[in-house]
Amino acid sequence: MGVFTPDVNNLRELYIAKLEHTLNSERQIADKGLPAMIEKSTNPQLQQAFRKHFEETREHVSRLEQILSSNKGEASDSKCKITAAMISAAESEIGDAANEGIRDVILIAAGNGIEHHEIATYGTLRTWAQILGEKQDAAILEKTLGEERNADELLTRLSQQINVEAPVA
Ligand SMILES: [Fe+2]
Repeated sequence: MGVFTPDVNNLRELYIAKLEHTLNSERQIADKGLPAMIEKSTNPQLQQAFRKHFEETREHVSRLEQILSSNKGEASDSKCKITAAMISAAESEIGDAANEGIRDVILIAAGNGIEHHEIATYGTLRTWAQILGEKQDAAILEKTLGEERNADELLTRLSQQINVEAPVA
């Protein structure tokens, strides 16, 4: 069976199914991913960037709950296997790194990977909301998309400094 259940027959059902995956993805990031990244990071600016995005992510969770409630009457989620895999891959990579500088570099790479997945997801959801005539949803999703892009860009800026400080050989 694929990622979406076989009862998805139209764009509106697909939109709801993807919102449910995304809610689960954001919940995994808020409950597990980012708290671990804050704890494992050493560079103060990196730690601050993760803290900031943790607060934003909690807001992303409630925005999705709001959208799902207005479209479906409830905010249920369904497991996002991609996010689960990315978080567990990052956990094992970090577990193997004894050096703090290397750990920060791994955390940035993992963060960029997760953000890119979210940027793709919110871009798709925003477009589907527009097509379905859900203007208010589209505006909320666009706002989250902007925050995911900013988080990605901040990590990229920090990587230019932190990667350089990490031991090269
Ligand atoms: Fe997010």
